[in-house]
Amino acid sequence: MNNTVLSLWPELEWINDPQLREKTARVWEIALERSVLTAEDLSHIPFTLLCGPDLKVTFMDHKRSVVHIARAAGETVNGMYHGELPVNMDVLISGAILADVGKMLEYELDASGKAVQGKYGKYLRHPFSGVSLAEECGLPPEVCHIIATHAGEGNLVKRTTEAFIVHHADFMTFLPFKERLVV
Ligand SMILES: [Fe+2]
Repeated sequence: MNNTVLSLWPELEWINDPQLREKTARVWEIALERSVLTAEDLSHIPFTLLCGPDLKVTFMDHKRSVVHIARAAGETVNGMYHGELPVNMDVLISGAILADVGKMLEYELDASGKAVQGKYGKYLRHPFSGVSLAEECGLPPEVCHIIATHAGEGNLVKRTTEAFIVHHADFMTFLPFKERLVV
């Protein structure tokens, strides 16, 4: 496993199946090779531009928090629902780590060197490009499904339990930045 990817994503260690762990890491590796963004950038850029450039929550803070929240939710459901809603933790964690990997391909550098959404990203938002990268690395369909359905596009299809958890972990930590009630 590439050290850059492992230092970006210590949560890879939570995937028990060594093959799935390796493939999940490989997707990030090829995405970074093809991106205008570096691993270093991801630990500095704010995760959303909606709150201005001074937001302290970085891209990686947000992406990693989604994995932590999804894991806690999955463990709670597995522990308290008597097996009625089984959550495959390996699939959940791999999918949560990969949900936004396609964003690496959404950006281009503009004339001033700033990362902006490029033509490829306009045609193929990250749920699509993420699936493409993941299939290239041999990720199973249950993980690709989480990537495909984690955002608004996924509202048009039926989600697995794991995909529901990742979708909500992502949106519950994004929407309040965008539109929370402040009194
Ligand atoms: Fe996303």
